[in-house]
Amino acid sequence: MSADQIERGKYLANHVALCVDCHSQRDFTQFAGPIKAGTFGGGGEKFGPEMGFPGTFYSPNLTPSALKGLD
Ligand code: HEC
Repeated sequence: MSADQIERGKYLANHVALCVDCHSQRDFTQFAGPIKAGTFGGGGEKFGPEMGFPGTFYSPNLTPSALKGLD
């Protein structure tokens, strides 16, 4: 994979599809809910009925260490 492709992936995941905004833990006591230090892509954020979801879901870990075994 080229450096250009890696940059393109970062752009898509962090700024277009916002995958990492959900797949990281957020501090909603602060304005705009910044990502908590050390949780980038690590999942664990809760999505529950209080947000309108039909159950309780936790975003999974999307970091390479969690995904390396997948095709
Ligand atoms: C609105 C929040 C949100 C966004 C944005 C989001 N996800 Fe998720 N994602 C979740 C949640 C919550 C789950 C867990 C769903 C469940 O438990 O059924 C999940 C599950 C997953 C899974 C596991 C699927 C499985 O079958 O186990 C992967 C992989 C994933 N997301 C990748 C991504 C990628 C890549 C993007 C960006 C293109 C993305 N997600 C964007 C919230 C989000």
